Amino acid sequence: MSSLGRISFPTFLEPQISQASDGEHGGPAPCYSIPFPRNEGVIHRTTISNRLAALLPPSREYHNAALWGLGGSGKTQIALDYAYRRCYDDPACSVFWVHADSETSFTQNYKSIARKLGLPESLSGKDLLMNVRAGIEGNRCWLLVIDNADNLQLFGVRNVLRIKDQDQAEDTALNLSEFIPRGPVGTVLWISRDKEIGSIVGARRAIEVTRMVEDEALELLKTVGDIGNDELDGAPELLAELGCFPLALSQAATFRRKMSITIREYLSRLANRRKRWNVLQTSAHDPYRRQGLTNSILKTWDTSVEQIRQENEVVFDILHILAFLDNQNISFEILHQAVTRRNKWIRDDGEKDKNDSEDEYDKEGSSEDDSDGEVEEEALWVAARLQQLSFLQPRASKDSRTYEMNKLVQEAVLYALTDKDRRKDQVRYSRLALWVVADLLPNNGPGYWEGWASLPATYRGQRKYKETTKINTQGLALQRDILGERDSETMQNIDTRRDILWAGDSTMR
Ligand SMILES: Nc1ncnc2c1ncn2[C@@H]1O[C@H](COP(=O)(O)OP(=O)(O)OP(=O)(O)O)[C@@H](O)[C@H]1O
Ligand SMILES: [Mg+2]
Repeated sequence: MSSLGRISFPTFLEPQISQASDGEHGGPAPCYSIPFPRNEGVIHRTTISNRLAALLPPSREYHNAALWGLGGSGKTQIALDYAYRRCYDDPACSVFWVHADSETSFTQNYKSIARKLGLPESLSGKDLLMNVRAGIEGNRCWLLVIDNADNLQLFGVRNVLRIKDQDQAEDTALNLSEFIPRGPVGTVLWISRDKEIGSIVGARRAIEVTRMVEDEALELLKTVGDIGNDELDGAPELLAELGCFPLALSQAATFRRKMSITIREYLSRLANRRKRWNVLQTSAHDPYRRQGLTNSILKTWDTSVEQIRQENEVVFDILHILAFLDNQNISFEILHQAVTRRNKWIRDDGEKDKNDSEDEYDKEGSSEDDSDGEVEEEALWVAARLQQLSFLQPRASKDSRTYEMNKLVQEAVLYALTDKDRRKDQVRYSRLALWVVADLLPNNGPGYWEGWASLPATYRGQRKYKETTKINTQGLALQRDILGERDSETMQNIDTRRDILWAGDSTMR
């Protein structure tokens, strides 16, 4: 008989645990502590699910593995599906779920597990955490999902790509890893936005969750948006526009459904530069994500960006410089030059950036104090860290290192810069981006801006029409900013920034 028939699961949003004696299995009944209802409309991502099932078989041994990827890529949904299957397939298996984005939420979740396990209310601090660990280990069969383990410092992971002066702070912090239950039986499934989770479970046990394949993405759109086969006009364009990215698609589908508009009407909002960010920044309720946190595609990565800022300001600055450039074909040269320009700006303490003088553009002086080897090293680890957080992807290229930046992430980074408190940053990063591109152009001096024409020409020669259009458009817009209308209002005009991207994108359609 299928185990599905024997267990009925309540639909609950709060963690719920039951533990009582169960004659049928000859021991205490299993506990269930899953913070989300089962997603009955889950889209099965078979490649990932199969890999996960292979790494975490329902055996009576100890196993661990991890899912990692960009926020909103669908990690929690895959884990949720796995957790419910384990419940159904093995009625004796207890399932626990904790959110580990901070020590506070981890402790709170352990506290509620302690209560349901019948541990003394008086337990607190390390005693509480240790007793819950022992309580979980005491089960004959258990699964623990550690969700949102995005800040791996909490688990004692020292990222070699982090700046050195943080080592001391890490030493004094509580290391939560000692409270994670271990073998000889049990399963631990980690979920993180950071690829470095591989240093906890082993690199080969960490599965990357990226965008969906087209068929899955279409299915998600239909299911969440309640869209019939006769209403799919424009669907391929929408999938392309949102990069088959699950959170963006589910938000779009919900928005479309609530507004009772067609996919084409939704697309036309995205195509309208004034409406686009209004649509993308909305945050619709999603029962399968934590309540009280934003689901907006323009804000969901803010915490990751803030984490980068705290970790390493070089990576943070380069991310923002790249946001102003074409998201594709980011050569290592560009990264290298971005680090050079950024370091120069830091050395000058931002003075040149502030005084707005005509001769501030100083190509010759751009790398005066930097040893080339050091800059190269720095650029390499900036690229590595951004890849670990899925903000940058390597692109196949025969003879050079080339990257691509996620287009939605790029837009989210630019969106955050439109905050009125960040206008200075907006100006600074756009200028640094301009300098980087200008440094790499073959032509400088009186005919300097002709360089803008020569780069697209090179691309045209290679039949890279997308790049040609983008470089032309961005170059013209930046040229207008710096040379044409260089009053501060123009530089600080948000819409100008949006125009740059917008014009680049819309000409590609
Ligand atoms: N396989 C799926 N089936 C159905 N919907 C999905 C699936 N994957 C993702 N979604 C939709 O996308 C949303 C975002 O997915 P999810 O919360 O799993 O992302 P995540 O990678 O865990 O993000 P975060 O790092 O922010 O926690 C889900 O709430 C759901 O609406
Ligand atoms: Mg999640």
